[in-house]
Amino acid sequence: SLTVDPTAKGPAIDRTMYGVFFEDINRAADGGLYAELVQNRSFEYSTDDNASYTPLTGWTADGTAQVLNDPGRLGDRNRTYLSLAAGSSVTNTGYNTGIAVEDGKKYDFSVWARAGSGTTLTVTLHDTGGPLATARRVAVRKGGWVQYGATFTATRTSTTGRLTVASSAATALDMVSLFPRDTYKHQPNGLRKDLAEKIAALRPGFVRFPGGCLVNTGSMRDYSEASGWQRKRSYQWKDTVGPVEQRATNANFWGYNQSYGLGYYEYFRFAEDIGAMPLPVVPALVTGCGQNKAVDDDALLERHIQDTLDLVEFANGPATSTWGRKRAEMGHPEPFHLTRIEVGNEENLPEEFFARFTRFRAALQARYPYLTVISNSGPDDSGTTFDRAWRLNRDAEVDMVDEHYYKSPRWFLQHNDRYDSYDRSGPKVFLGEYASQGNAFKNGLAEAAYMTGLERNADIVELASYAPLFANEDYVQWRPDLVWFNNHASWGSANYEVQKLFMNNVGDRVVPSTATTTPDAVGPVTGAVGLSTWNTSAAYDDVKVTAADGTTLLDDDFSGGAPAWTHTGTGSWSVQDGQYVQADTTAENTMVRAGDPAWHDYDLRVKATKKAGR
Ligand code: AHR
Repeated sequence: SLTVDPTAKGPAIDRTMYGVFFEDINRAADGGLYAELVQNRSFEYSTDDNASYTPLTGWTADGTAQVLNDPGRLGDRNRTYLSLAAGSSVTNTGYNTGIAVEDGKKYDFSVWARAGSGTTLTVTLHDTGGPLATARRVAVRKGGWVQYGATFTATRTSTTGRLTVASSAATALDMVSLFPRDTYKHQPNGLRKDLAEKIAALRPGFVRFPGGCLVNTGSMRDYSEASGWQRKRSYQWKDTVGPVEQRATNANFWGYNQSYGLGYYEYFRFAEDIGAMPLPVVPALVTGCGQNKAVDDDALLERHIQDTLDLVEFANGPATSTWGRKRAEMGHPEPFHLTRIEVGNEENLPEEFFARFTRFRAALQARYPYLTVISNSGPDDSGTTFDRAWRLNRDAEVDMVDEHYYKSPRWFLQHNDRYDSYDRSGPKVFLGEYASQGNAFKNGLAEAAYMTGLERNADIVELASYAPLFANEDYVQWRPDLVWFNNHASWGSANYEVQKLFMNNVGDRVVPSTATTTPDAVGPVTGAVGLSTWNTSAAYDDVKVTAADGTTLLDDDFSGGAPAWTHTGTGSWSVQDGQYVQADTTAENTMVRAGDPAWHDYDLRVKATKKAGR
C-alpha cells in the first residue's frame, strides 16, 4: 500500500522537464528527419568524410558524368558540382533500399543548372517495375546557374525508387533534390512527417540540438578561410542557415557527410511547431568526447563567442537587427524565444573547458541577462573528472550543469536515489543524455523507475532527455535509440513508450509518498517463500505469509537474528537493528525461506514490510 499525504508539498515539476535530444547520429538528419529524398544531392561527399565515399556516392552514371571543383561552382560553400555530357544521365539511389514514394502523393523536384547552350533535362522517377510517375521535361536556358523545378505525382507506391536526370546537351548540375510535398506541417525544406509526428506525439518540453559529440569536434576555423576547405570542423551554426544551396556540408563526427539542410533555422522552427523550448548546444573549443585536446587560439575563441552572441540575435533579435533580419528573410520575422543555451559537451578537461566557458557566460549574460547558460560535468556520472567539473561549476555559481550517462538497467534501478542527496544550493541539473543499455521492455521499465527518482527531485533536476533519439536501421553507430526507421517506416522502442507516458502526464507537483508493503500475491501458488531483489538497499523488517484460510505459514520479524533463508545470488544479507538488510546494493538476490514452510499449495497472502520510504 502507498501512503500519500495530499497536504504535503513536494517540488513543483516544470512542464518543460522532459524533452528530446536530437543529434545527427545514426543518419538521423539526412535520410532521416530531414525529408530530402536524394542522397548526396550536391555531390559534396568526400573521402575526407568517410573512406568509402566518392563525390558520386549515391549516384550511378550512364555516359560521361564528372564531379568538378573549380571556379564554375555554384557557391563558395557548395564547391563541387556535376558536369554531365550530352546524352548522359545520372541516377540517384536514395537511402536504404531507395527512394520511397506513395501512390497519389506529390513530390517536388528541383535542380540548379548551368548550360553553355540551352538543353532539356528529362527527369524520371522509377523502380525495377517501371515508372513511378509521369516523366518530366525541364528546359534549361543558356547561361549561369538557375534553379529549375518540376512536380511528380506518384502513380504507385514503392520503397525502391530511383531518380534519373538525363540531359540532351552538356550541362552543369548541382543541388538535385526531391522532396515530398507532404512534409511535417507542410513546411518548405521540411521534415519527414512520420518521424516529426513521433517526436510531436511525445509532447516534449524542450528540444536539445544539434549534439552531442557532433558539435565539438575539430577546429572553429571558417569554411572559406585561406587555409582551405576545412573538413571536420566544429558544428558552426552560421554554416547551417540561409538558402540551402549556400550552406556548407561537413564531415560528421559519426563518420558520414552532413548536408546542414536541416540547420539551425529548421531546428528552431521545429521546436516551435511542436510547442517545445529550443535548447541549442554550441562547441566550447575544447574537444570533448574522448579527444582530450584543447584546440584553436584566442582569436578564434573570441570570434566564436561573437558567433554565439549572433546566434541569440538570430533567435530572438528584432527583424531589424543583423541576424534577426536573416531569420526574417528565411520566413520567420517573430522571435524563437531562446532562453537557455548550452556551451560545450562532455568536456574531458574541466579546467581548460571552464576557462573558456566562463568567457562565453560573461559575454552572453552581459548582453542577454535573461539567458541560462548551461555547463557540463564531463563524460562520466562520477569520478575525479566529474568531481572537479562539479566543483568548478559550483564555485562559479553556474546555473545549470549537464550530466550524461549510459548504464545497465540494473544501474538505473540501483540509483533511483541519485539526486536525493544533491546540494540544493548548487547548480540545477540538466540530465541531457541518459539511457539504459537496451531497447527491451526491461530497459523501458528501469528508465521509468529511474524517472520517478528524477521527478521526486524535480527541484534540482530541471530537465531530462533520453539519448539518442533516432536510428536509421541501416546506418547505426550507436544503440539503443528511442525511435527507429528506414526509408518508409518508423517505430518507437519500449523506451519511447516510457518517454511518451511521462511527457504526456507531467504533474504539477510531487506529492511525497511511501510504499510500505509489496502487493498481495494472489494464488493458488505452489512453491517456497522468497524475497527477491534486483536493486538497491533492500531491507525488510517483517515478512508474513498466510494461507487463504488464515493459517500463518511464516512470520519473521528478524528479531531473533539471521533467519534460515537459502540464498541465491551474489550479495550477502545481514540483520541490522531488527531489519533484514541486503549488504551488497549492487547484487541481484533471491532469498528463499528454507524448511517450514517448504512447499505449499495454498492461496498465499504475502506481506513484507520494507524500510519506510523505499
Ligand atoms: O548520444 C550519443 C553520444 O553520447 C553523444 O553524442 C555524446 O554527447 C555522448 O557521448
